[in-house]
Amino acid sequence: MIIVNISVVGTGYVGLIQSVGLAEFGFKVVGIDIDERKIKLLNRGITPLYEEGLEELLKKHVGKNLRFTTSYEEIKNSDVIFLCVGTPQDRDGNADLRFIYSAVNSIKRYFDDRYRIIVVKSTVPVGTNRKIKEMLGGCNVDVVSNPEFLREGIALRDFFNPDRIVLGFEDVNNSRPIDIMKEIYKYFLDKRVPFIITDWESAEVIKYAANAFLATKISFINEIAKLIDAVGGDIKTVSKALGLDERIGDKFLNAGIGYGGSCFPKDVKALIKQFESRGIEPKLIKATDEVNEEQIHWFLNKIKRYYGDLNGKTFAVLGLAFKPNTDDLRESRGIKLIDLLLREGSIVKCYDYVEKARENTIERYRLDTSGAYYGYNLYVLDDIYETVKDVDGIIITTEYSQLIDEDWDKIGNLVREKIVFDGRNILDKERIKELGFKYFGVGRG
Ligand code: UDX
Repeated sequence: MIIVNISVVGTGYVGLIQSVGLAEFGFKVVGIDIDERKIKLLNRGITPLYEEGLEELLKKHVGKNLRFTTSYEEIKNSDVIFLCVGTPQDRDGNADLRFIYSAVNSIKRYFDDRYRIIVVKSTVPVGTNRKIKEMLGGCNVDVVSNPEFLREGIALRDFFNPDRIVLGFEDVNNSRPIDIMKEIYKYFLDKRVPFIITDWESAEVIKYAANAFLATKISFINEIAKLIDAVGGDIKTVSKALGLDERIGDKFLNAGIGYGGSCFPKDVKALIKQFESRGIEPKLIKATDEVNEEQIHWFLNKIKRYYGDLNGKTFAVLGLAFKPNTDDLRESRGIKLIDLLLREGSIVKCYDYVEKARENTIERYRLDTSGAYYGYNLYVLDDIYETVKDVDGIIITTEYSQLIDEDWDKIGNLVREKIVFDGRNILDKERIKELGFKYFGVGRG
């Protein structure tokens, strides 16, 4: 089969990267989304979200082999349909599949006798691919599970350089959809990227297990950091030594105030629900989640222990996004800490190197033009030195490497008290102490 037309349903993070990536491979791609405003922007070559290199690649293909529409009718002409709609967390921590099912129903309306493939890229709980196939009962269609492992900020790089391609099929002996997927991902085959061809359930579990494993590494090192804090030593040295053991690996062993973002917290919780709904208790994964939820409170207590009362104290919180170089505040530990500080009656001045992250914070708290959060004392500033001016303490919440190279001498002259709570262990402890600062990290004695 020669693949002529591909459509991608959902133009959020995953869908947009997928559309642009497939267009770069030379396919004719149509992105479908119900959000008219977004579609208009995309057709003009403007991305509604910030991701390095994305807008350039969008501009290169839009109007040529890539276009966007709100009309599901495009499905009529599509051989392959990628499902990339969101699966947010519902109130109980389950994955909310409303968008998935409504997209499948919208797609179904335009199906005729022609053979098609639906590729599910959204992160979906075990059993969802099977359910989608059932919903499409009678249609000439194969459903393929193809989970996504993109990291925000370097999503395009991840798209073109994946560690593996995971493909789950109803029947691994049915070569038709397998051959088509190999044709679409020929670029990766040529690059000798490993392909995992498996059943639906394994593919679905791989995605959740990968995220839960990485999250567990973080919670594990955060737990060890607590012991180090009690006995002395430096968790950075511990992490380094652990990482030198190839069986452990050196990634995701940075202790800090916990993981945030749109994936780890939500996916870990959704995985727990998948165990529980089958009567199995996921002890380890539950602990991963609990350690992460606790971590920010543990850190706040450390600050409290120093000051006694946080009421009326002024803090500079450096880092609003959940990780460096994104504007994404979802489940950001920095934002969580700000909320906790405000509740304690503190005055918070905050800053992020990414302008859009600062703007999103202003929007989140509906700050007025002077920067004051109605009813609270929250100020978002455009300059790091303005932020640290006259504060009782500096709190680092996102692991920005730029912080290392800041003029800490100058910062020392601006603050009321020379003290840093480094929630990401980013600073050189000895150097900062030499400048007269008191230093508190996570597991650094
Ligand atoms: C993650 C996965 O890496 C990706 O494969 C998946 O598809 C989506 O979820 P992302 O959400 O972009 O990607 O964030 P990631 O870079 O993995 O970081 C997640 C969080 O963990 C951040 O808040 C970061 O600060 C924290 N983290 C990371 C640590 O606290 N310590 C570490 O050692 C590494």
